[in-house]
This record gives sequence, structure tokens and C-alpha cells, in this order.
Amino acid sequence: MIKFVNVSKKYSDGTEAIKGIDIEIPEGKLVALIGPSGCGKTTTMKMINKLITPTKGTIFINGEDITAKNEVELRRNIGYVIQRIGLLPHMTIEENISLVPRLKGWKKEEYQSRVNELLELVGLEPDTFKKRYPLELSGGQQQRVGVVRALAAEPPIILMDEPFSALDPISREQLQDELKALQKKIHKTIVFVTHDMDEALKIADEIVIMRDGKIEQIATPEQLLQNPANDFVHTFIGEDRINKGNSNRHVMDIMISLNESDLLEKELPTISWESTITEAAKQLIQKKVDKIAVVKNKEIVGTITKEEVLHFVAGIRREEESSC
Ligand SMILES: Nc1ncnc2c1ncn2[C@@H]1O[C@H](COP(=O)(O)OP(=O)(O)OP(=O)(O)O)[C@@H](O)[C@H]1O
Ligand SMILES: [Mg+2]
Repeated sequence: MIKFVNVSKKYSDGTEAIKGIDIEIPEGKLVALIGPSGCGKTTTMKMINKLITPTKGTIFINGEDITAKNEVELRRNIGYVIQRIGLLPHMTIEENISLVPRLKGWKKEEYQSRVNELLELVGLEPDTFKKRYPLELSGGQQQRVGVVRALAAEPPIILMDEPFSALDPISREQLQDELKALQKKIHKTIVFVTHDMDEALKIADEIVIMRDGKIEQIATPEQLLQNPANDFVHTFIGEDRINKGNSNRHVMDIMISLNESDLLEKELPTISWESTITEAAKQLIQKKVDKIAVVKNKEIVGTITKEEVLHFVAGIRREEESSC
């Protein structure tokens, strides 16, 4: 687990890039840092592998304060994909990927088979690509190599700073899918910086929204769509996504389980268990009732009440109002 406790960073020219942040990044989770340009995402990330030293506060990895840790040793255990690919141009793809494993003293057979395995993982045929130099690959292919290079020595932590930002939308989506599938297998602790809210919502377990060196909200994608903490987060996520997120909420989320008295109310209008809360609300209004039954496989499995729907909608409003 990576933990920031009251961390600040003031650069030597006086710029206060980070202003007292607390973050907990759970082990095995993919956490996205997102926020406008200059809000301090890269600074936050570089403090984890000690490329930048905080001016105040402490960063812990697995309970250990990193201040005292040897930085070379630390970095060998933290994969890093930098903002602009960063492959070494004079090394082949194989040499690039195997760099850290070689530094760590892996045997030749070991790192060679690891290179093959990783290239295959991102759909690059090893025999075609491993002897090539970075410039002999397309931008998207280089980016894939950049990503797997960070995984090569199997570090428990991986930092990725806008790894897909230079890609066209199709390659970008493809790599997002690949990363998501990969993470399901490898369960690393990944800190992922992005500008792109759709990307964060798609791949992250948790999202940290930053503004001007501070944290505005830390939440799961779902929580963020349901309860943006304040106007800034609301605007940053965008009205469209929030509406879409909420209308996609499922009736099962607020369904009250069946009780005996419901069985007596045979005349209740019904709605499928796969419906959204918005659809349930429409039914309640159109049919002028206080309750509808949720049906699955032709059987009533529970009920949705007007009260619950209102409660749900009010919950969203309350959050909005309290932030004003
Ligand atoms: N070496 C430095 N010296 C002085 N100020 C710096 C330095 N590096 C970054 N900054 C400033 O610190 C603030 C945070 O920068 P940082 O690179 O962390 O932002 P970011 O969120 O990663 O932005 P972007 O999305 O554009 O990559 C900015 O105001 C930036 O100008
Ligand atoms: Mg940056």
C-alpha cells in the first residue's frame, strides 16, 4: 500500500505544486490521478519513486517511510511509464524491455523468455519486433513496449504517467482494454495519471481528482458519478456522464426485498429486474402509484417504492447543495 500523509511540495522557484495531500493507494488496485494541467499529478507520482522529494509530509510504502530508502533500489521495484514513452533509441526492443531484469541480475534465458511473454501479451509478435529499434515501430507499438517494459521485472508497483495520451482513439481504447485485462491477471498496485475522464472511469478502481495541488475527491468511478463532492468535480466529470451514470443505476440497487404483504398486493404494476432507476421513476409517475413490483423470470422478487426513488434522487441533490 502507498500512503501519502500531509505531503507538500514547493519547488525552488516558490511554486507550491502540492499542498498537503493525503492519499491511500491500496495494494493491487489501479488508482487514477486526474485533474487539469499543472494541478500536480506528475509531481505526486514522481514523489513515489523519489524522483522528487516532498518538502513536507511523509510517503509510506507498505508501512515503511521511503525517505530513508535507497532510491536506486526503490526504483528497481517500481515500474515507470513516463509521459512520452521513453524507450532508449539506441537499444533494441528486447534490450529495452530486459533492461531492469538484467540490472537485477536475471539469467539470459530468464529475461529472454520474459521478453517473449510480454511482447505476446500486447500482441506484438516477438520474432518480428524484438530485434527492432524503437524508431522502427509505430507510435502505438512503442507505447505498448513502454507499458510492458514497466512490467518486465515484475515490480509490485507501477507508475504510469499519461501512458496512452499520444495515441489515436482506437489504439487508445485497445490499450485500455489490454491494461484492464492484464490487471485482472497480475493485480499490481498501479498509479495511472490521465487527463481523460472516460479513461479513468473505464480502467480505475479508484479515482483521485486533483486541483491546484490539492485533492477534491477520492472515490470509485460509481461513487464519483453518483455523488460528485462539489461543483468543481461535477463540472470536471461533466453533466452528461453524471446523468448517464445515474440513469444507468439499476433498480436492484434500491429494491426492497419481497415480504409477505407484497404478495397480497397482486395488482402492482411490474418492471423487469434489468430496468434502470430512471425507468422505475417513469413507471411510478405514469401509473400514479407508490410502489411497483420487480419481476425476474416471471416471478416477483421485490418492490421499488416512490420513497426509495425519491430518496435516491434527493441523495444526489443533497450532495450538490452541500457543496455550494
Ligand atoms: N521543476 C519545477 N520547478 C518549478 N515548478 C515546477 C517544476 N515542475 C513542475 N512545476 C510546477 O508545478 C505544478 C505541477 O506540475 P506537474 O507537472 O506536477 O503538473 P501535472 O498535473 O502533471 O500537469 P500536466 O497534466 O500538464 O502534465 C505546475 O504549476 C508546474 O508548472
Ligand atoms: Mg504531468
